[in-house]
This record gives sequence, structure tokens and C-alpha cells, in this order.
Amino acid sequence: MKIIKSVARMQSLSMQKRTEGKRIALVPTMGFFHAGHISLMTYARKRCDLLVVSIFVNPMQFGPSGDFERYPRDLKRDRVMAEKAGVDVLFCTSAQDMYPPGFQTHVEVERLTQPLCGQSRPGHFRGVTTVVTKLFNIVQPHEAVFGLKDYQQWLAIRRMAGDLNMAVKVTGRPIVREKDGLAMSSRNTYLSPAERKAALGLQQSLSMAKYLVRKGEKSPKRIKKTIKELITSYNSAKIEIEYVSFCHPETLDERDIIKDKTLLAIAARVGKTRLIDNCLLSPGE
Ligand code: PAJ
Repeated sequence: MKIIKSVARMQSLSMQKRTEGKRIALVPTMGFFHAGHISLMTYARKRCDLLVVSIFVNPMQFGPSGDFERYPRDLKRDRVMAEKAGVDVLFCTSAQDMYPPGFQTHVEVERLTQPLCGQSRPGHFRGVTTVVTKLFNIVQPHEAVFGLKDYQQWLAIRRMAGDLNMAVKVTGRPIVREKDGLAMSSRNTYLSPAERKAALGLQQSLSMAKYLVRKGEKSPKRIKKTIKELITSYNSAKIEIEYVSFCHPETLDERDIIKDKTLLAIAARVGKTRLIDNCLLSPGE
């Protein structure tokens, strides 16, 4: 496995591989790998000749809360895990190389980034779509693989690639969970044992909603009420719901009745840690 730290070197390697007719896949990450990241690499590995994984904790997508400084990092461990997953190139560049002095160009997906996480994280998705555009231009992948845990992010990136005619297939892959159902996240390492237990409320809410919809419930309002009660009963002191949304899985427009496929997305703060989870509800299935 090659480790490339410079933008210029990564771009010229990709150009060379492209002229050789090789198929390139990219898995963009911020590092501190867990099984969710690895599942994306394993999937991509089978679909390309050159598998590039980028590690870049992108300052542009963080708010002013200090989350950027606090974000967990462990390059040594990531290297070992990437190598095991069959990665060809680990591209880990610096903020100076990505954003040299004078940088002033951004990419923004307008509507899809407004609801859900867009409400509490202004500028977040603009930072994501800008860095992902840069990564696409540097690595020139034929396919880029993302996790559906960050459903809104995947949707925005897919929209961006389509709207701007980027020649890259944007793939979304299922959420990988811990044995007890908690969606894997680099941020889970922040959780104390009590918070870790309270965090299970997110996934339990999704299961409860699925059960209610299966039994014929169509009212987002009623399910929201049940979810809020369920989450509060877990540990009211430690978990605070940011949003519970029942929305159209392509436009993210809120639904007032669950008749067709609906995305249920949840965000909550557990202590100081912000967690998200989601699932698709399919009435009648
Ligand atoms: P990061 O949070 O490191 O996630 C990298 C990729 O792993 C994303 O596509 C994310 O959706 C996916 N992922 C995270 N947890 C997952 C899980 N439990 N199951 C499946 N996939 C999971 O998302 C980012 O980084 C950044 O915003 C990035 C796209 C790299 C841009 O900076």
C-alpha cells in the first residue's frame, strides 16, 4: 500500500492509471476507521483496479465548537486496517495542501442541504461538497463509495455529481452497526458507558417506527410522540433529540402521512456528542 501525502503526486498517479485504462475507486473518509469504513473499502475493492482511500479531517465542514480539534485521529491504526482491506493508496494530505492561501471557491447544493442536519450545522454541507469535489478532481475516480449512515450527505453528493456532470458514479452502502444495534461512528469513542447505553435509544426508535408502520400506522406525528417517549425513557438527562424527520427519500420534503417509501432520520445529542441514524420505512411490505 502506498501512502501519498501530496495533492500533486496523487493527481499525477491517477492520471497515469487512467491512461493505462485502469478503473479507479475512491472511498473518502476522515479516518479513525471502524467496520463501517472498512465495509465501503471491501465493496469498492471488488469493483476497481486502483482503490484509493482518502483521510482528511476537513476543517471546512466543522463548526466553531471545537469539534475539529477534538475529532479522533490515529493514522498508525488506520494504516494497518487499510492495508488489511486491500487498499492500494492511502491519500492523506494536509489542510495547507488542500486549502492554500487565497482559496475562495466553494460548491453548494442548495435545497437538499437545508433540512435535517443543515438546520443545526450551517456551512457543514458546503464544506463537504467542496472537499468532495476537490477529491474527485484530484483522484479522478470512476466510482466513489459513501455510507448511507450519512444519508443526507450521500444524497447531496449524488445530486452535485449529477448537476455538475461529474463523470463519477456515486454509490451508497448500508449502515454497519454494532452488535447491539448502535450505528458505527468515529464519534462513538466519545461516549461514556452510560451515554453509550443511552445512545441505543436512536436505533430502538427506528425499530419501533418500523414496527408501528408494519402494523399500519401512517401518522408521523403519532410515531414521533412514541419515539420521543421512548428516547426520554432511556435516559432523559443524557439524550436530547435534535430532530425526528419523516421525509421523502429523494427530496427530503417532510411527509405528513406515510403512504409511500419514507426516510426516517434522527439526530440527537448524547452528552456532548451528536449522533445520527436513519432507516427507510416501506409501508405495505
Ligand atoms: P467519515 O465520517 O469518516 O465517513 C466516511 C464514510 O464512511 C462516509 O461515506 C460515511 O457515511 C461512511 N460511514 C460512517 N459510518 C458508517 C457506518 N456505520 N456504516 C456505513 N458507512 C459509514 O463522512 C465523512 O467522513 C466526511 O464528511 C467526508 C465524506 C469524508 C468528507 O469530508
